Amino acid sequence: MDKFLTVLTKEVMDAFERAGYDRSYGKVGVSNRPDLCEFQCNGALAAAKTYHKAPFVIAEDVEKELAGNVLFSKVETVKPGFLNMDASPEALLSYLKSMDQTERFGYEMDASTQKIILDYGGPNVAKPLHVGHLRSAVIGESIKRILRYAGHEVIGDVHLGDWGLQMGLIIEELKNRQPDLVYFDESYEGDYPKEAPFTISELEDIYPAASARSKEDAAFKEAAMQATYELQHGRRGYQALLSHIMHVSVSDLKKNYDRLSVEFDLWKGESDAQPYIPDMVQKMKDDGYAYISDGALVVDVKEETDTKEVPPCMILKSDGASLYNTTDLATLVMRMQDYHPDHVIYVVDKRQELYFTQVFRCAKKTGIVPADTDLTFIGFGTMNGKDGKPFKTREGGVMRLETLLTDIQEQMYQKISENDTMTEDQAKVTSEQIALAAIKYGDLSNQASKDYIFDVEKFSSFEGNTGPYILYTIVRIKSILRKYEEGGETIADTKLMAPQTESEKKLMLALAGFSEAIDGAVREMAPHRICAYIYDLANALNHFYHETKILAEVDKEKQKGYIALLNLTVRVLENGIDLLGFEAPDKM
Ligand code: ARG
Repeated sequence: MDKFLTVLTKEVMDAFERAGYDRSYGKVGVSNRPDLCEFQCNGALAAAKTYHKAPFVIAEDVEKELAGNVLFSKVETVKPGFLNMDASPEALLSYLKSMDQTERFGYEMDASTQKIILDYGGPNVAKPLHVGHLRSAVIGESIKRILRYAGHEVIGDVHLGDWGLQMGLIIEELKNRQPDLVYFDESYEGDYPKEAPFTISELEDIYPAASARSKEDAAFKEAAMQATYELQHGRRGYQALLSHIMHVSVSDLKKNYDRLSVEFDLWKGESDAQPYIPDMVQKMKDDGYAYISDGALVVDVKEETDTKEVPPCMILKSDGASLYNTTDLATLVMRMQDYHPDHVIYVVDKRQELYFTQVFRCAKKTGIVPADTDLTFIGFGTMNGKDGKPFKTREGGVMRLETLLTDIQEQMYQKISENDTMTEDQAKVTSEQIALAAIKYGDLSNQASKDYIFDVEKFSSFEGNTGPYILYTIVRIKSILRKYEEGGETIADTKLMAPQTESEKKLMLALAGFSEAIDGAVREMAPHRICAYIYDLANALNHFYHETKILAEVDKEKQKGYIALLNLTVRVLENGIDLLGFEAPDKM
């Protein structure tokens, strides 16, 4: 189904053509002066140059062709040659009727669909999830849902940070704490216990302790590096410990992501890419791309058009050790082999942008990724506290995601239990839903690449451009619909009507903009577009609500029109928040 703007554009293009001008001038846009008109076409201004005529004359010619057109209730030429237009109530009604009956509200999926691997989340095993990982999870999850809505096949991969020194640090610290564990006995040949020798909270205590110690104690760090080396070269006891670390840590991560309604298809990690490294490196050497520079193996990735320096991509350090980017390149080898994606997208902190430029160029240059496979980096900004510095706990430590969620949830719980009839369980579930909406919407309503200030008070307000406001609007509609049915009526028997008031028309116009908004969000992979759309829609709805007697309306036919309109609105809003990755309660 065409977008509403396309429907109008086609009509105006026809009018240009009938008036003797090229149809390409007939593009219609939403008016930037809503006080004057709903839509406008500025094509006559451009056409004036081609036809050596005053723009006003051209616009008037077109206006004549549109006289009496059923799509418009007003077409007006204004100086110097704009066409100002209002859609007719009938045109809106007929568009909304089709929207109501069509899957995805008439949004047309992308014609050429891709198989996409989405790399997001990126938590590090055995380190607690902190707010820095929140953005990747929240933005990535929404982008995944948006791309799927557009018809793409999207495979989400968490890409665990499960390789490197952190494992050696944990092993070494554990050895100091519990030296008698069988994992440290090199002569042991039997099976290892199934039960991990630590809980998640112990594990989360071990890593920071080990990390702090390695900074002060050189011998400890040396031992941790040695343990990492032995682990990576197959020492049995350490590998058994690694699988315990992985198991304990991953089940905790899953619990956390679950709370965030973030779901991954693949739980692969950096370690899964390691087996691909030797062949990949050999091939880079054989093909003449990789060479030794200052002892390290590198691939040049600078290009002539670069305005900033892009340093070579380092593949192996002089001691032969692999690096973060070796792993990312090998991960691409693995992904190409296993999934043949058309597109790989990374949702990572924008400070890693240059790094990904190097990785992408290297992957293309060395043929790891074919020329026609897209590689996209979506960099997000930092989540700052009210002081403008990276978000911290009150004590100045790194804020853990779990703590943050629980804090906000408790605040929401206080807020809703003040004035309500809900049971304690309902209030608990509802406060979880509101907290999630507050956090996610607070993040997603900003353009991802920008830094933003995490302001709990602002985000959790029931008024303004916030998640709870959107939920509140949805709950308001649901409550009206519920009361309508409690009065013995059936929503299925209602039907949309042509708008009769200004606020009703505004609401219908907002609904008609759905496909346009989704299209923008898909093309730019930008959840903030969805936020902006549903915020406008919620505002239009609330305005209509305040101006209109709905349940008290005595004219039953009129009331049916209102109810059908509310029903469509609530479906579009709920669809919107689903794309953002949260849902609405029935009451709040
Ligand atoms: N684990 C990394 C970090 O915490 C993020 C991983 C991003 N994804 C990637 N393919 N490199 O910074």
